[in-house]
Amino acid sequence: MKSKILVTGGLGFIGSHTVVALQEQGYEVVIIDNLSNSSLDVLAGITKITQITPEFENMDLRDKDAVAGFFEKYPDINGVIHFAASKAVGESVENPLLYYENNLSSLIYILQHLSQKEQASFIFSSSCTVYGQADTLPIKENAPIKKAMSPYGNTKQIGEEIIEDTCKVHPAFKAISLRYFNPIGAHPSAEIGELPIGTPQNLVPFITQTAIGKREQLSVFGDDYPTKDGTCIRDYIHVMDLAKAHVVALKRLLDNSSEKNYDVFNLGTGNGNTVLEVIESFQKSTGKKLAYKIADRREGDVIAAYADTNKANSVLNWKAVHSLDEALKSAWKWEEKVMKIEKKH
Ligand SMILES: NC(=O)c1ccc[n+]([C@@H]2O[C@H](COP(=O)([O-])OP(=O)(O)OC[C@H]3O[C@@H](n4cnc5c(N)ncnc54)[C@H](O)[C@@H]3O)[C@@H](O)[C@H]2O)c1
Repeated sequence: MKSKILVTGGLGFIGSHTVVALQEQGYEVVIIDNLSNSSLDVLAGITKITQITPEFENMDLRDKDAVAGFFEKYPDINGVIHFAASKAVGESVENPLLYYENNLSSLIYILQHLSQKEQASFIFSSSCTVYGQADTLPIKENAPIKKAMSPYGNTKQIGEEIIEDTCKVHPAFKAISLRYFNPIGAHPSAEIGELPIGTPQNLVPFITQTAIGKREQLSVFGDDYPTKDGTCIRDYIHVMDLAKAHVVALKRLLDNSSEKNYDVFNLGTGNGNTVLEVIESFQKSTGKKLAYKIADRREGDVIAAYADTNKANSVLNWKAVHSLDEALKSAWKWEEKVMKIEKKH
């Protein structure tokens, strides 16, 4: 049996897919989640896919004593993948303190324990939002970090700095920040997927919810940007590819394969797609017609962002293999499944 790994936020969208990928590679997983943006059904979904129910602690990581109690209960945990965070950009502007507290205090409490261990490996969920509107595309890891456009984005920048500073003074503590571009899609079984609470902030859940009839129309925010069709460009990465990258990055730290004890990697496909291209790909791969309209630009949207993935490709020996069509198909299959479940209730 391989190491026991803590996955915080393991019942969330990216966390649940990563738990599956870890279990498939023989890791024993313990999940901490406070169910603030997830449900226990996800645990059942994971179990259905892997036939293994991970250990689960329903716990709020803002509770310092509970975090201490957790590490006492599980002294054999030396690897942590930290997904737990609040992630709605708009909400973070309205309630910055909630975001600073949830995203930073939980990180600090975990690091306080891990940094004291003889050896510990830590993977952090960061975001391409740290680059803002980059001056050069595709975006390399050494591109300048721009002033964050939201408290959410700021928690990712500060989070990275907290980890880097901790690594400087604790050489046995090893960490990697993974900067995700735009995660989409679902497990091909449709047992787990993305469950946005309220109105989705991201394009793909909005597309699938519109196609299934939950929303009347999709708004495309701006068609006068300096891009090939005037709409914003993003790098959409299948969550299955993203999940695999976490396992590879963690293994690199557990195996002591990295000379540095802190590193940063972009996780994207390296391709940029416009909003209209995503709509087109969705319609083509699912056969569903989508009602959409062009609306005003949305404040805070960067024009274009896509990853230079050379570092992850060569150092981690990882590459995204799933296409945009595949990712959208899986997102649609998941939306249909959610609809079926909702109709039963
Ligand atoms: N989805 C994206 O587009 C995206 C892009 C870049 C970075 N990220 C980051 O990746 C991580 C995972 O994102 P996701 O899309 O899976 O989000 P998610 O909301 O689906 O998952 C986060 C999980 O953490 C849990 N959680 C939140 N606060 C907690 C706390 N205090 N204690 C215990 N559990 C807590 C939630 O219940 C949820 O299950 C987040 O850190 C997010 O900021 C996401």
